[in-house]
Amino acid sequence: MGLLKTLGVLTLVGGVLIAVFPPPDVLSGLSSNHDHSPLEVQAIMTGFCLSPVIGMLLDERPEIETTGGEFKFEEDGDIENEDYAQASIYAILYAMYKNTPNLVGAGTSAGVPYQFTFNTWGITPVDGPGQPPRESVYAFPDTDPQRHGKQAYASLVTQPPAMEYKKKLGDTPLEIVEIGCGTGAGANLITREVHPTAKYLALDMQQAAINTCKQNHATEDNPGLTCQLVPNGVGNGGNRAPRADSSVDFVVISETHIADIQIGDLEKEIFSEIRRILKPGGLFLWGNAIPTRVWEQADVELPALGFELVNSYNHTKGAVVARDEDYERVEACMDQLLAPYPVMQVPYFGPRCHKVGERLIANFYRHPGTALYLKMVTGYDSYMHQAWRNNK
Ligand SMILES: C[S@@+](CC[C@H](N)C(=O)[O-])C[C@H]1O[C@@H](n2cnc3c(N)ncnc32)[C@H](O)[C@@H]1O
Ligand SMILES: *[C@@H]1O[C@H](CO)[C@@H](O)[C@H](O)[C@H]1NC(C)=O
Repeated sequence: MGLLKTLGVLTLVGGVLIAVFPPPDVLSGLSSNHDHSPLEVQAIMTGFCLSPVIGMLLDERPEIETTGGEFKFEEDGDIENEDYAQASIYAILYAMYKNTPNLVGAGTSAGVPYQFTFNTWGITPVDGPGQPPRESVYAFPDTDPQRHGKQAYASLVTQPPAMEYKKKLGDTPLEIVEIGCGTGAGANLITREVHPTAKYLALDMQQAAINTCKQNHATEDNPGLTCQLVPNGVGNGGNRAPRADSSVDFVVISETHIADIQIGDLEKEIFSEIRRILKPGGLFLWGNAIPTRVWEQADVELPALGFELVNSYNHTKGAVVARDEDYERVEACMDQLLAPYPVMQVPYFGPRCHKVGERLIANFYRHPGTALYLKMVTGYDSYMHQAWRNNK
């Protein structure tokens, strides 16, 4: 695009943006309950790139604190989750993913077209002492750009207690609810390939993600899947999961930011909702990389609520190897996601903004070098797959 045209677009969208979102609120003023149009996303990106937030993030001004003191945003993308509205970051990220439907793989998936739908870092099988059995990781071909996310979802819902439960149920379809489904990529994989007779309700608090879920995944040829928005999220302000008491076989949570700092009031609300909707003997299948000490807290808190731990796999090492294997694909993906925004070409502001955008996406991806990746390497964070039985 020519410079004049670029400047024209910038002036237009920048003006719209500054009217709608004053710059300091770019990170916290976006709505989860709204699907931003391509023009709005241009405006948001332009305002973001021209706003003082970029300098704050790059210069690590004291307004923005990092999670541990030993990490810096400029080097490893670290931002304390509570310091900015995470939901707003999701709103813009999901809009960007939707605006870039034709990504191309790299590395082992070079040339393979895909849409960014697995907002998942995922796992891969590794051998060695203390590792989960190799067959516990449901493996996909390495030409698949999103195989690590697929492996995480498929393995989570085929843990041994889940397979035993399914066998006992016989021909009766499994009733599954997922909290924090994102675009529903995992839900889609499960209803099409892993548990194809299941009835699956996929819930998220992001309108753009739920729209992608409906358009791409809950299509006529996949009648088992329903995607539904829960405004502001399950558990927030006493929000319920939209299901009757004791009506669900499995509740799935995979890589959502629930319990990433502690098991606090929100988490307890969510867990008691899970317990309410699960049938007696139903399973809460929980997979994520969160601090090791929070898993230890869960070992105390979940039994106190009436859950019993019936399976636990430590996939931390496999999650690190997955990120290493995915390095080239993610590098290419970040460039492809940031390419459509003319503001990235503006001298000075463009390169700085590209750097911040890259660090934000990389951190959400636990990309090698980021704080979240290093935390898995050191064992500060553990990537676990667990099955908790609801003993009513
Ligand atoms: C890292 S993304 C992962 C999405 C999906 N699980 C995946 O792996 O592709 C986390 C998602 O959890 C959602 N989320 C977080 N807390 C939630 C809550 N209390 N209720 C519903 N959704 C929630 C966010 O909106 C976001 O889409
Ligand atoms: C999981 O394994 C890692 C080593 O890969 C270890 O540092 C961590 O403490 C383990 N986590 C739990 C919850 O057992």
